[in-house]
Amino acid sequence: MTGRQAVVVGASSDIGRAVCGRLAALGYAVTGTYRDPGRAELVAAACAPAGHRPRLVQLDVTNREEERLAAEVAGGAPLGVLVYAAGTVDPAPVPQLSEAQWDRVLDVTVSAAYRAVRALLPLFGDEGAVAFIGSTAHRQGTGPAAYVSAKAALRGLAKALARELARQRIRVNVVEPGFVDTRFEGVDEAAERRRRQLRAMIPAGRLATADEVAEIVVLAVGHPYLTGATLTVAGGAVMD
Ligand SMILES: NC(=O)c1ccc[n+]([C@@H]2O[C@H](COP(=O)([O-])OP(=O)(O)OC[C@H]3O[C@@H](n4cnc5c(N)ncnc54)[C@H](OP(=O)(O)O)[C@@H]3O)[C@@H](O)[C@H]2O)c1
Repeated sequence: MTGRQAVVVGASSDIGRAVCGRLAALGYAVTGTYRDPGRAELVAAACAPAGHRPRLVQLDVTNREEERLAAEVAGGAPLGVLVYAAGTVDPAPVPQLSEAQWDRVLDVTVSAAYRAVRALLPLFGDEGAVAFIGSTAHRQGTGPAAYVSAKAALRGLAKALARELARQRIRVNVVEPGFVDTRFEGVDEAAERRRRQLRAMIPAGRLATADEVAEIVVLAVGHPYLTGATLTVAGGAVMD
């Protein structure tokens, strides 16, 4: 056991769930957030091989419930790791994208990450690590505008926090996946067609698995000298 807690916001995502499993295997006491009750048990299942039962907290990040999350985590072992994996996308092109749709994507994908860090920061022990799940989509603008903008902002937030928090021995990094084979990509016929097109575009010839992304997240939070870094997990599809 590490004697430390880890919080994963968006634990119910495919990537978040894989991160929970790996953190549990390392001995962290995991708290994972979810919104969709149907996906909460999947988080518990991911931690089960480690013999760990995670604390599951239902919250919608747009309701500004980060203080309630912090209250759940307070009083236990010091916080060692915070992973922010929540994100949402709106496919509407800009002329059809309402301000409310824009605000929602930005809120879930980046503003709530800032709020989570702010709320949980006092719970870190004498050192800790934060990882944001970003996306390579912002590098060449390959995605809907609000999502691309939010992920670019998330990277900026990580860099600024890395500087601000370095002397407190809290490291902040971003893991930017390219294309990952998750629910995010969909399960219907159109999604299958898209997967085939993506495979053709990716030098590695396949999409990443959620667990491959989680492996890099765990590496990022575990490395004592890594901060302010962007780790790309894209099978060669994006190279800087
Ligand atoms: N899949 C890819 O190809 C890919 C590529 C690059 C980056 N990413 C990023 O990886 C992260 C995880 O995505 P994933 O692919 O594993 O997809 P996913 O399963 O769709 O993940 C979305 C996550 O965000 C949570 N979420 C959305 N809106 C929320 C809200 N209002 N309040 C609280 N939680 C909310 C979801 O919770 P519920 O499920 O409980 O509703 C879920 O945990 C995302 O940040 C995504 O942008 C994915």
